[in-house]
Amino acid sequence: MSIRARVCILWVKSYLFIACFWLNSPMDDIAKPVVGNELNLEPYWLPYTANRAFKNAPRIIESAQGFYYKTRDGQTILDSFSGLWSTGLGHCHPRIVKAVQDQVAKLDYAAAFQVGHTGAFELAEKVIDFAPDGFDHVFFTNSGSESVDTALKIALGWHRVRGEGTRIKLIGRERGYHGVNFGGMSVGGIPGNRKMFGNAMLPNVDHLPHVLNLEHNAFSKGQPAWGRHLADELERIVALHDAQNIAAVIVEPVSGSAGVLVPPLGYLERLREICTRHGILLIFDEVITAFHRIGMPFGCQRFGVMPDIITTAKGITNGVIPMGAVLVSREIYQSFMNGPDYAIEFFHGYTYSGHPVAAAAGLAALDIYVEEDIGARVKELEPVFETALHSLRDAPNVIDIRNFGLMGAIELAPRPGAPGARGMEAHVKCFEQGLMVRHGMDTLAFSPFLTFTPDLLEQTFDTVRKVINTIRNS
Ligand SMILES: Cc1ncc(COP(=O)(O)O)c(C=O)c1O
Repeated sequence: MSIRARVCILWVKSYLFIACFWLNSPMDDIAKPVVGNELNLEPYWLPYTANRAFKNAPRIIESAQGFYYKTRDGQTILDSFSGLWSTGLGHCHPRIVKAVQDQVAKLDYAAAFQVGHTGAFELAEKVIDFAPDGFDHVFFTNSGSESVDTALKIALGWHRVRGEGTRIKLIGRERGYHGVNFGGMSVGGIPGNRKMFGNAMLPNVDHLPHVLNLEHNAFSKGQPAWGRHLADELERIVALHDAQNIAAVIVEPVSGSAGVLVPPLGYLERLREICTRHGILLIFDEVITAFHRIGMPFGCQRFGVMPDIITTAKGITNGVIPMGAVLVSREIYQSFMNGPDYAIEFFHGYTYSGHPVAAAAGLAALDIYVEEDIGARVKELEPVFETALHSLRDAPNVIDIRNFGLMGAIELAPRPGAPGARGMEAHVKCFEQGLMVRHGMDTLAFSPFLTFTPDLLEQTFDTVRKVINTIRNS
């Protein structure tokens, strides 16, 4: 056989070997799922998502307008959750789109440290105009998680600069959600968010009990009557750790991510009373409840209970550009303003704090809240939402329905041995029926647009009923 023929055979053999190896390789296990137009789904590790299930049956959003998403394969989806509690003014609001487009062409970015830009100052002033009396200063962040960790650091720093550096304990609440950074995760109380990282939790954290009790409060509308005494647990925790060691208590006025847990009547008032008596700062995490989600610019105004620090994000820009803000009083701010005036007073900040494009989105969003009288629209819609939501009381497997402002939840009984399966099935089936519904385990949560309409609420809950009817019992 000629040398040429031998080389040729060798070449074919090695080609076959490589081909066989490739065909049998472990890469097969991560075959690249593609959807129309060859979109490679594999490289993207989706957050808070069942990645394998998703990649087997992807739901890809391509565009959005008003109350609707459009998927990559052309399906129109009614969004019952305003993005992720974030986009209450509707998707692609033309005024926000224009503000962002104009800003990015004018000043795309300005260094955030030791210089400033106009938009950040203007937005800080506007947020303060929006906020309850007594809140005079704003620290900008890029997310709810960053707002929470910033607030915890402000609380620790505040005690320290006033000579009470022993106050380092932080009190959160079971089932609370304060984002995913180490501070927020540690004061948070959703078990699934904690267990993988259990050994790395911050020390010096304790938790209040949560406020959900189906035995006493199932199917409550608005604030439940039972449960004020749960706030007294704070007295027990204070006695255990000693007030002199406790910096702050952090709670969501209404817990959102754990499935809309509404504070019982008198509960937040009692927390306020106890914190004040013991010199403990009270932080309200209003990442969801600020910017009219519960009918007032800030949730604390709706409850008539004033915290010392407020964290926000989401609605500040209508979710269009990531941004968060932490609000504090003049007293807290001034306590940090000591030492030589050339020295940095608070060693904290983000490259994108007060980002010009986010600030432009925020300025436009805050104008819209005022000019389109969003507060009045939410007040009108709230009872319609409550009636529509509670109309599902008799649907199969529904064990609780709860609501406050434009936040609502329907809790399904878990399927025996498969907690979370019913919730997931409902989410997927609703999507197939053209409705975006958020679920956490077996609880379906609703956060309608602040400008939604009664007929779209009816359509939403008609679809949810149809879907719940089809979810198998066993
Ligand atoms: C009350 C609360 N705090 C913090 C966060 C975390 O916000 P982000 O996801 O922007 O970090 C959330 C998110 O939903 C939230 O609801």
